[in-house]
Amino acid sequence: MLPLRTRFYDDVIATHVRDGPVRQVVLVAAGLDARAFRLSWPGDTTVFEIDQPELLADKDAALAQVRAQPACDRRVVGADLTGDWIGDLVSAGYTQQHPCLWIAEGLLSYLPGAAVAELLRTTARHSASGSRLATDFIGETFLSSPAMAAQRAAVAEINAPWLYGCDQPEQLFTSCGWLPERVLQPGEPGADFRPLPFPTVPRDVEAPGLPRLFFTIAVKP
Ligand SMILES: C[S@@+](CC[C@H](N)C(=O)[O-])C[C@H]1O[C@@H](n2cnc3c(N)ncnc32)[C@H](O)[C@@H]1O
Repeated sequence: MLPLRTRFYDDVIATHVRDGPVRQVVLVAAGLDARAFRLSWPGDTTVFEIDQPELLADKDAALAQVRAQPACDRRVVGADLTGDWIGDLVSAGYTQQHPCLWIAEGLLSYLPGAAVAELLRTTARHSASGSRLATDFIGETFLSSPAMAAQRAAVAEINAPWLYGCDQPEQLFTSCGWLPERVLQPGEPGADFRPLPFPTVPRDVEAPGLPRLFFTIAVKP
């Protein structure tokens, strides 16, 4: 799933930044994402990385050790995404006057439901028309499926429990100010970059106990 997910976001960036007009990218919960270094960016692109301050400090120390040079204007923003972080982003140079590509990869399952909705509303409120938000969801089915019990226990054990799942991303986007553009399950066209060891079950097929997940992109009307 992770190679698939990585490629999905790389392609979203290629479409909207490398081959498109967007020059402002926010990696929401960037973690150790190395896209600012790994990808080719148009020369005038700014990439903001938001995450916990301690994590970003460790990341920057590791990057400095190998003298890594970003291929864009990279700006780090240490902040708590369940708090009031937008001011910190604006202070770092983010502007609502230009469209933005928000990437929230591997984040939402770790936040309480109310914080997920607030994050979506905040990004929509502070986005120019035509901005996009790409993110991924585990389904509620992930939180309840017996097949995922061992993984649920493993992430809880390392103090990063899965808190939130969503099986209807379209409804969530719409209720938070975003227009859903693509909601893909792994294995469907656009998220089928390598063969999977199991078939993709269409969404309209009821499959009790099947853990679903989604790679999504939404646009600000
Ligand atoms: C699974 S990692 C994903 C990192 C990266 N986007 C990726 O896909 O490789 C989740 C990230 O969310 C960050 N995170 C979780 N809760 C956060 C919060 N309340 N504020 C800021 N960052 C948070 C963690 O520090 C971690 O880097």
